[in-house]
Amino acid sequence: MVFDTKVGGYELLDEAARLIKEGEIVVFPTETVYGLGADATNEEAVKKIFAVKNRPSDNPFIVHVPSIEAIDKVAYINEDAKRLFEAFSPGPITIVLPKKSSVPQSVTAGLDTVGIRIPAHPMALQLLDKCNCPIAAPSANTSKRVSPTKACYAMEDLSGKIPLILNGGDCDVGIESTVISLTTEIPTILRPGAITMEMLSKYLPKIINHKGEVVVAASPGMKYTHYAPIVPTFMFHKNSTAEALYKRNTDKGKKVVVLVKKSNLNATKDLNSISMGETPQEIAHNIFSLLRECEKQYDVILVQALSNEGVEGSVMNRLIKSCRGMII
Ligand code: TXA
Ligand code: MG
Repeated sequence: MVFDTKVGGYELLDEAARLIKEGEIVVFPTETVYGLGADATNEEAVKKIFAVKNRPSDNPFIVHVPSIEAIDKVAYINEDAKRLFEAFSPGPITIVLPKKSSVPQSVTAGLDTVGIRIPAHPMALQLLDKCNCPIAAPSANTSKRVSPTKACYAMEDLSGKIPLILNGGDCDVGIESTVISLTTEIPTILRPGAITMEMLSKYLPKIINHKGEVVVAASPGMKYTHYAPIVPTFMFHKNSTAEALYKRNTDKGKKVVVLVKKSNLNATKDLNSISMGETPQEIAHNIFSLLRECEKQYDVILVQALSNEGVEGSVMNRLIKSCRGMII
């Protein structure tokens, strides 16, 4: 089916809610990245997401709800979950809980658990209120591509394939939500994000293992290549190795860009370098849109390695995937 995809703001909210209720799928903004949403209780609608995204069917979707009260319809909520939602929601956290039967198997890839999230973007919350159903939504990119942080990037991937894209501006956070499972014996972070281990450990002391280390388990979606720009992308620790690779590629006539922390701009001024920002939040906010823009203009991307701590560590988690492990 080919659509003449509409793009607009709040004036399209009613239409977006109607489409979702009718079993269509639409793009909507969240504070993390844009989502491609369907009525989570409508199996046929959910299947459309798999088809449009070209997503493997063993990768479960997050179910978005407007409030803590609304969780009751889709999952069994416990005391720990309640405390975490109260502390961090609406916001960039997804909590995996035992699912209720209202959620079809296709949403959760056959798992008996479901990831629940209350997004903070006002447009997402209004959409959830208006359609009065939970919304299953992965990020609004085609499978394997960088998650969209602006409506125009969702448009690049999905134009003509869906009826409507709600434009809510730039996503504040810029990387996907932290995913934490409360269905494991010890609460387990499946995907790091803006809500960090340090923040969570105030509410869940057991999240830290006996050595005081972070327990990071493999989330089902993690085995696929994600966040991969369409041009070769390398991560570097030292400017000198970046310089060598830069020279080798420019000598071959390739257009190369170097993404660095703002404080490293001066030291790399002889290279074609662009600042990712300086604070972890700035870098998270900018990174996906930088990757999207750079892959259009350059043949090779070199990106400076970040620290493995806190929000910067969460960005690093994405960048390692962008580089497919090509770390120099
Ligand atoms: O910020 C976000 O979370 C965005 C916005 C749109 O809400 N959504 C997003 O969805 O990033 P997606 O589908 O790209 O990533 C969902 C992640 C996957 O890694 C998946 O494996 C994990 O959440 N996940 C979802 N349900 C799960 C479950 N029941 N058990 C374990 N992991 C789950
Ligand atoms: Mg995704």
